[in-house]
Amino acid sequence: MPQITVVNQSGVETSVEAEEGRTLMETIRDNGFDELLALCGGCCSCATCHVHIDPAFMDKLPEMGEDENDLLDSSDSRNEYSRLSCQIPVTSALEGCKVTIAQED
Ligand code: FES
Repeated sequence: MPQITVVNQSGVETSVEAEEGRTLMETIRDNGFDELLALCGGCCSCATCHVHIDPAFMDKLPEMGEDENDLLDSSDSRNEYSRLSCQIPVTSALEGCKVTIAQED
């Protein structure tokens, strides 16, 4: 199981085990980070699962879909490392990745 580091909105880092086959959103939420609201439950319609991905891992992720891109546009804290964590499946390629929960809009 890949080990990832989750950085909360206060900048505190926590190492968590991520299970392959689940999404990054589920991994973060189920490890008790209730800052990640994930209000739509992962169907790509809320943008409350916004995270910033470790720059070194951006090219290991599936390409961003149009819906995800549009939703991220509604966030003031969007940057080039922004993704919706419900759209990212956990794979072994994420071993050592650092994921920062975006500030709430
Ligand atoms: S949980 Fe709603 S868009 Fe990801």
